[in-house]
Amino acid sequence: MCGIVAYKGKEGCSDILLSCIKNLEYRGYDSIGMALAADKSNSIEIRKDVGPIDLVDEKLNFTSMQGNKGIAHTRWATTGSVTKENSHPHFSSDQKVYVVHNGIIENYQELRKELTDLGITLNSETDSEVIPQFIAIFVKEGSSLIDAIRKTILKIKGSFAIVGMHEDEEGIFFARKESPLVIGMKETSDGSGEKEFFAASDVPAFLSYTNEVYYIEDNEYGIIKEDIVFRDIIDNKIIKKEIQHINWDIDQAKKGEYAHFMLKEIHEQKNTIVKSIQQPSSLVEEVSDILKNAFGIFFVGCGTSYHAAVSASYVFTHVAKRHVNVTIASEFRNYKDYLTDKTVVVAISQSGETADLIDAIKTAKEKGSKVVSIVNVMGSTITRMSDKNIMMNAGPEICVLSTKSYTSQLAILLLLAHAIVDKEEKAKELIRKAGEEVTKIIDNNFLLLEKIAEKIKEENSMFLIGRDLAYPSALEGALKIKEVSYIHAEGFPGGELKHGTIALIEKGTPCIVLTTEATRDMIISNASEIKVRGGYMIGINSKENEVYDEFIKIGELGHANPIAMIIPIQILAYHLALKRGCNPDKPRNLAKSVTVK
Ligand code: M6R
Repeated sequence: MCGIVAYKGKEGCSDILLSCIKNLEYRGYDSIGMALAADKSNSIEIRKDVGPIDLVDEKLNFTSMQGNKGIAHTRWATTGSVTKENSHPHFSSDQKVYVVHNGIIENYQELRKELTDLGITLNSETDSEVIPQFIAIFVKEGSSLIDAIRKTILKIKGSFAIVGMHEDEEGIFFARKESPLVIGMKETSDGSGEKEFFAASDVPAFLSYTNEVYYIEDNEYGIIKEDIVFRDIIDNKIIKKEIQHINWDIDQAKKGEYAHFMLKEIHEQKNTIVKSIQQPSSLVEEVSDILKNAFGIFFVGCGTSYHAAVSASYVFTHVAKRHVNVTIASEFRNYKDYLTDKTVVVAISQSGETADLIDAIKTAKEKGSKVVSIVNVMGSTITRMSDKNIMMNAGPEICVLSTKSYTSQLAILLLLAHAIVDKEEKAKELIRKAGEEVTKIIDNNFLLLEKIAEKIKEENSMFLIGRDLAYPSALEGALKIKEVSYIHAEGFPGGELKHGTIALIEKGTPCIVLTTEATRDMIISNASEIKVRGGYMIGINSKENEVYDEFIKIGELGHANPIAMIIPIQILAYHLALKRGCNPDKPRNLAKSVTVK
């Protein structure tokens, strides 16, 4: 939900800022803007407009802007429609203070009224504009910049990550509450000992420049000058922070030989699935002890991460013989009366920044429950809120669609289910085989899936069915198809279609049938019910059947089947997107990390 970036260091930094903000385009692409200045001078230049970064850059030529410090923003609109005026950076009426913001200011109407009552004419319809306006007012009243920032932040209710500049002041200021913000630091290569500073919503923004970072916590703010001063918003005390080293390398955040990140990340699964279970054995032991001793386990997530939770609940039932409650994060608060200090909440999230899940974790913590998180982004908010963290080791996932993070989540949860009953080695063996299956599935079916996509690309609606372990794969498959190709797709348990939805089947309606060995006979009879009504049947299974019009063969992997069966659907969704003229990496209306509730 919006990407923010700041840089301070070398002259001619507009190309650095542009490359950093491009790396965050997955967080939103409704509009882009940039403001640049020469530090210690008194002139800030701003350019911004509506549209994706490359198109706006063609028009505005961002790299011709001059300066050695600046801020940039890519927007996923929340408050205020998609217009140039609502694009960031926002600035104060005296054109002294420039700010980019990610988050939601809940009391913005009240604050906007306060400003208009003071005679200020607002330039936009946004919540964000109140920030530079109030900072400018406090400075005009005599506050120092640092005090003006703090006074402004204390007025705000809601979430924010901000970076900004004041025309008469040195440096870049920043603040954070409940929206991600990291600061990167690099010694310049000219041996002068001078430093370059980066601030961004997410590490991949500046990973090609540095992987030495400071994580900014909630209620922290400060100013970057020759060095950084971090302060606590509440008591205003100076905070000492340690720099941390990030293990991701820049190649993981580049497309390389692939046409799209989506395709690259689908292919990467042969390795990421295996890497995901390379966990310290003491951690796996500790977490399985926590789960064994729990009285009440909740798996909680959103979107794809929720589907991984549903899938894992079947494995926990079958393998670990443990009942698990599975809850969509935004609904979790309804269960708060059942939470105690013996409850364990397993929070699942690629980004570690999903607002609904953060809210669920807060609910769990209020009740004294333990939180174990399964997260991909190191240092993210959720990792810092949890009692135990299992990192997914999938590397940066840039495409808005979750692909490799899903299979990593499935693999980790499969490992935990087995670890509880001392069958960890069995899980590892299945996951290793699943990794090997990925390449086979892609190589053997890529062209066939493209042919199928060509046949069905004009359809308005599709269905996916599966029973038992294959049912959550139907849910996840439907989400993949919907979000990237905009074809309406729904996943169902095989037995459920006949209770109503079968009325929608007509001649040629595509239906994907997901089969496990244990459910084969039952799902085949459900598939026949659809076929006789005209359905175009696409089977994903280890065994061919005459009910299928198209057949995608996958190896039989027992409880690891969901890892294999999602691969062909990810590829089908990719082909469908291309054939329908959609950009697989940037589906409309979506953003990679959903930091609003
Ligand atoms: O970062 P998270 O895993 O917490 O994100 C949860 C969902 O927003 C995410 O899975 C979303 O559904 C993706 N677009 C799915 O491809």
